[in-house]
Amino acid sequence: MKPADSLLGALKDLRAETLGAALNAASCAIVIADARKPDFPLIYVSRAFQTITGFSPADSLGKNCRFLQGNDHSQPELRIIRKALKDRRPCTVVLANYRKDGTRFWNELRLAPVFDGGDRLTHYIGIQTDVTAQREAEIKLKSYQKDLERLVRERTDELDRKNSALKEVLSQLELEKRSIQNNILANVDRLILPLMKKIGRSAGRESQKALNALETNLRDLTSPFGERLSRPLHRLSPREIEICNLIKSGLGTKEIAQLLKSSTATIENQRNSIRKKLRISRNPVNLASYLQTLKS
Ligand SMILES: Cc1cc2nc3c(=O)[nH]c(=O)nc-3n(C[C@H](O)[C@H](O)[C@H](O)COP(=O)(O)O)c2cc1C
Repeated sequence: MKPADSLLGALKDLRAETLGAALNAASCAIVIADARKPDFPLIYVSRAFQTITGFSPADSLGKNCRFLQGNDHSQPELRIIRKALKDRRPCTVVLANYRKDGTRFWNELRLAPVFDGGDRLTHYIGIQTDVTAQREAEIKLKSYQKDLERLVRERTDELDRKNSALKEVLSQLELEKRSIQNNILANVDRLILPLMKKIGRSAGRESQKALNALETNLRDLTSPFGERLSRPLHRLSPREIEICNLIKSGLGTKEIAQLLKSSTATIENQRNSIRKKLRISRNPVNLASYLQTLKS
């Protein structure tokens, strides 16, 4: 036996009052329309129908249920209902409906056709659930989501604007840095080096040697060699670059220590640290020769 048949059997045995009591006990509204009459008039509405819509049986019986739509007859979901009714098939939709006091509520409507023993359509059963709270929560959530997306867009645009302003400032700073560097180089070339040469001419042999080393030092510090040594890879400090220049110009540890007013042990330590940073600590290569190869 099909479940529908057993249900019909059970219904036949029920007294009308018992059936009415069962339908009235449901928290969702239940209505029955006569499908054999034109425009499917309502022949039964449960108690919950009155609770949800505010319309009494006297307000509703004999009418088509569209009166719940107020003036809202162009909802796209109505097309689904019309098609289901035409095809004599069940359907479920959510509609905007209006209570007797005019307030709107969201109605989840489940429609099911009822046939007699054969294929003759006799009734439609409608089950209505008030899903207003759920719908409004969804609408609120969507609106929060939209607000959030707008906020993220605005923040991203603002960050983009700040980023390009920052890039502009950085490129300006880079230009200024280059211009300062060029000025320094020009001053070393035009003023300091000629002056040192002039002093060198009247200086003794020892001072001349020191002046020459100083000149090499200055040239290298302002040349690509200095830049290469101070690359982050090597991380040489200005003091170490100075020592490199002195080594490169042929001075020994003792002479460098005298020139820089430091001890030979300190200079020796610094030589070791330079070798480490240049990654030649385990390489027997001579530091002065190695530094010569770095010159571009
Ligand atoms: C049993 C039954 C219950 C219905 N319940 C509702 C309802 O609660 N709310 C509603 O807007 N429409 C309901 N309808 C749909 C309308 O009665 C009608 O079929 C729909 O508005 C489409 O037809 P129309 O274009 O002629 O209005 C119900 C229909 C049936 C058959």
